[in-house]
Formats: sequence, C-alpha cells, structure tokens
Amino acid sequence: MALLEVKDVSKVYQGSVPVEVLKQISLKVQEGEFVSIMGPSGSGKTTLLNVIATLDTPTGGSIFIEGENPHQFSKEKVASFRRQKLGFVFQSYNLLAPLTVEENIMMPLTLDRVSPNDMREKSDRLLKELGIQKLAKKRIYELSGGESQRVAIARALIHDPSLILADEPTGNLDSKSARTVMEILSQTNKQKKVTTLMVTHDAFSASYSDRVVFIKDGKFFNDIYCGNNREAFYQNILAVLAHLGGASHDFQNPHLS
Ligand SMILES: Nc1ncnc2c1ncn2[C@@H]1O[C@H](COP(=O)(O)OP(=O)(O)O)[C@@H](O)[C@H]1O
Ligand SMILES: [Mg+2]
Repeated sequence: MALLEVKDVSKVYQGSVPVEVLKQISLKVQEGEFVSIMGPSGSGKTTLLNVIATLDTPTGGSIFIEGENPHQFSKEKVASFRRQKLGFVFQSYNLLAPLTVEENIMMPLTLDRVSPNDMREKSDRLLKELGIQKLAKKRIYELSGGESQRVAIARALIHDPSLILADEPTGNLDSKSARTVMEILSQTNKQKKVTTLMVTHDAFSASYSDRVVFIKDGKFFNDIYCGNNREAFYQNILAVLAHLGGASHDFQNPHLS
C-alpha cells in the first residue's frame, strides 16, 4: 500500500473569477520513498502540498495517508493526526525567534503532555543526530539560515512522523547550507525510513530524492527516477525542466556554478 495516495484531487479558488489550481491530479508515494515535486511557478505545487498537509481543503478528489482520509476527520482529530503523523518544513523555517533551539524542538511535545525529562531526551537525541548539539541553548535569532532549517527539521521529526512535507526547504539558503540541509533530509529519509515529499524549484536539491514528479498547470506532467547515478539523474531533471518550459529562470541552479 502506498503511504500517500492523492486521487483525482482538484482545487478551485473562488474569487471574482474562480481559478482551478489543481486539476484532477493523482499521485502515489510509497512508504520510505523520497519524492520531489517540481513545476513552473504558479503550477500548484504549494497548493498540492497544503491540501496533503490538511492545511487547505481540496474541492474534489481524495487524499489517503496510511490508508486514512484526514479530510473526513473532525476538527480535533485532524489536528492530532497532523501533529502525530506529519512533519512540516517550510522555506521560512517558521520557528519562534525569542525561544531557544531546544524549546522550539520540544514545542510540539508540550501539547501532548510528555514529561520534561522525556522531552529533553528526545530533543537531545535529535540535536545529536542532526549535528547541532552546540546550538541547543541558542536563540533562533542568533542562528544562520542553514542552522535554522536544521532546527526546523529536528522539530518536524520530534514526533517520528510518517510523512515529512517540505516546501522549498532550501529556497532561502546559500549553496553550502542547501547541501547540508539536503544531506540531512536524505539521511533522515534513509535511516528513519520517513517518507518525504518536497517541493523545490532547485534541480540540485531535487537530485537528492528517489523520484521527481513534475506538474504543470495543476496536472501531473511526468516523473523520473534516480536509479543509481545521481549525476545522470540531475542531468535528466534539467532536461525535463527544459522541456517543461514555463519560467525557466525558476530553475537555474546556483549550486553547481
Ligand atoms: N488562497 C488563494 N486564493 C486564490 N488563488 C490562489 C491562492 N493560493 C494560490 N493561488 C493561485 O494558485 C496558483 C498556484 O499557486 P501555488 O500553489 O502557490 O503555486 P506554486 O507553489 O507552484 O508556485 C497561482 O496562480 C496562485 O496565484
Ligand atoms: Mg510554492
């Protein structure tokens, strides 16, 4: 069974002129798979991620995560589902600036009445795994972008989620930090077997995944698999992007130049 199944999902934004942003899109992600979603600016990537995340509701179709359809849950159940099963990583980190790194990482657990000792133990283990122990007592405003994103990843992992959803996690980072963040996402995916779905416009970041799904105008366009040659995969990603057209400046890769 796929860990995530998106089935004929549509999304229409109502306004003076209704816009159909997702058009019966379907997608399956297998357990443990690391999938990137790419497509021109405005093609519906963030919308797709948000409806999977239950942060937005589809206007048609259904979404199954571990066989359950969270959009049919009550408000309370969907909130706990989101907290227990999903981990979020955003381009802008979404950390609480005045708090320390460990306070941010432990934050999701405070809602579950986990004992302070257990919280600290979990947080310490994650800090160590992600190589950021030294940052534990620092406040968010003292961190670089790359450090902030690593903290955000630790926070996303604190509940041992089934699915990590990342929207442009390297979008604000310099090439060295982007590389570190992608190595961490890749390592977490492999070692913890956490299924990962990442939106990116950066071919180099996408080349860390097992598969890239391309979308265009709210529809599935194509997908390609990494296989065992990451450099060839990177070249294939660039080739599909060139074919996909649209705003090609979206896809320039600052990391290899
Ligand atoms: N809340 C909203 N209301 C109306 N239109 C929206 C809303 N959010 C996004 N859109 C439109 O939907 C389209 C897809 O947006 P988005 O999913 O953010 O694309 P991407 O992430 O691929 O750049 C865009 O044309 C955007 O303007
Ligand atoms: Mg987007």
